[in-house]
This record gives sequence, structure tokens and C-alpha cells, in this order.
Amino acid sequence: EFHKHPRDAELPSAGMMGKFDRAQLQRGFQVYKEVCSACHSLKYVSFYQLHDLGYSEAEVKAIANQWATEVPSINPDTGEAATRKALVSDRFPSPYANETAARAANNNALPPDLSLITEAREDGPNYVYSLITGYADQAGYKNDKGEELLKKFPDAATPQGLYFNPYFANLNIAMPPPLAADGQVTYADGTVATKDQMAKDIAAFLTWTAEPTLERRHSAGWAVLLFLAIATGLAYLSYRNIWAEAK
Ligand code: HEM
Repeated sequence: EFHKHPRDAELPSAGMMGKFDRAQLQRGFQVYKEVCSACHSLKYVSFYQLHDLGYSEAEVKAIANQWATEVPSINPDTGEAATRKALVSDRFPSPYANETAARAANNNALPPDLSLITEAREDGPNYVYSLITGYADQAGYKNDKGEELLKKFPDAATPQGLYFNPYFANLNIAMPPPLAADGQVTYADGTVATKDQMAKDIAAFLTWTAEPTLERRHSAGWAVLLFLAIATGLAYLSYRNIWAEAK
């Protein structure tokens, strides 16, 4: 077993009481916008949902209008395929015209849509964090038991055009390390953009894209537990009351 389990990203949304940190979600969005969106779409997320992260209406409008990738459309005069600037009501588009173009640009691999990736993978938020900070040197790589991969499986050398990453299920991924250096993003809120910080922030953002109503689910859970506790107490008291006279 040379595959590694994710490390803990310490996200504030984790656990039964977890909540999002809006400032962190905005930073994560900035990482998505400036790095990940060059290859990955968010086809289940609309620009208008950014309101939820604390951006104003004008800011959301500007973000949509200045988005690097235009969205597919039709020229109303000729009926030909065309593109236009994104509107607030659009979803985050794929930078590629279609799957063939996407694969052609990525050594035949397809960058998946990231909307639901933190739900699709086991321990998803921690997985995203670990994956993008987890690129390693295959030469001399050992698992937790101290076994050396290339000694045990000499044929397992990472093929040309792929990158060794022990968090990826088959150990070799077609995605080049997306966060290559500290300071790759300059955060609007002044937070120091170490690789680790950017990775945590994008993991937080992709937790939100997959479940923007996570906080409601968590607080509804507590309300349900409180209700059940009170209902149990009342049921017990009425039981005592009903049987009070019985000897
Ligand atoms: C796959 C995240 C940037 C190209 C993936 C996967 C995740 C991910 C979670 C799925 C891994 C899996 O299937 O379990 C991110 C994040 C990015 C980012 C968070 C920004 C920080 C990029 C960029 C490119 C890219 C800039 C293109 C240069 C790909 C490709 C795959 C992939 C080709 C498919 C890999 C394979 O199946 O071997 N990415 N990505 N990604 N990504 Fe990215």
C-alpha cells in the first residue's frame, strides 16, 4: 500500500459544529479564479452565488463580466456558434471548447469539473488539500511501513508527462503541481499566501461549492437533537404521570 490517506486541512467547516469562514472562502475563490479555472469548470455553481461569500452585487457583476473564459452562445444574426462575456446568471465555464480540446491540452487526461469534487472523493476537503500539496519525488519514496516503491515495484516509474503524487489513487496524475510557489496569488485581504495556506483556502472554497448550505444542515441537526431531547423528557414525565397511581 503506497497510497496515502489525506492529511487534516483543519477547515473550520469540518465536524458537527463546523461553519465556513467567509474570508477564507473569498481567498479560496481567488485561488480558483487565478489558478484552477485555467483548466477546471464549476458547472454547478453560478456567479450570482458569490454573494454568499460576502461579495457585493457590483463586485459579482464585475467578476462575471471580466471572467477570462467567455461562455458558449449563438450569434443571433447568423445562428453560428459564438461566445459572449459571462453574466451573473451563468455557471463557471470550462476553459476548453469540448472534451477533445481539454484532453489535447492535458496529455489525454480530462480535468474534472470541481463543483462536487469534495463530495465525490473520500474525505474530500482534506483530499483536495493533501493532493495539491502532496506532489513528491518518486525516487526514494517510501510508504509508512518504510518500503521503497521503486525497490518493490521497479516497473512503477512515473511515465512521461505524468507527476508522482501519493495522494492520487493510482499515484501518477496528469495535473502538473498547480501551486508551484509561495505567493502565487496575492490575497486581497493581505493574508500571506504560502502554498499550504492557498491549498487550505481552495479546499475550503470547494467544500462550499459542493455544499453551500452546509451550515444550515449543521444547525438543523442541533435543533433536531434539542427537540428530541425535550420530547424524550416530556414523554418520560407523562409516563410517570400516567402510572403515578398504580401500585
Ligand atoms: C485533476 C484540483 C489546477 C489539470 C484534478 C483533481 C482535483 C484537482 C481535485 C481530481 C483528482 C482526482 O481525480 O481525484 C485542482 C485545483 C487546482 C487545479 C484545486 C488549482 C489550485 C489545475 C490546472 C490544470 C489542472 C491549472 C491544468 C494545467 C488537471 C488534470 C486533471 C486534474 C488534467 C486530471 C488528472 C488525471 O486524471 O490524471 N485537479 N486542479 N488542474 N487537474 Fe486539476
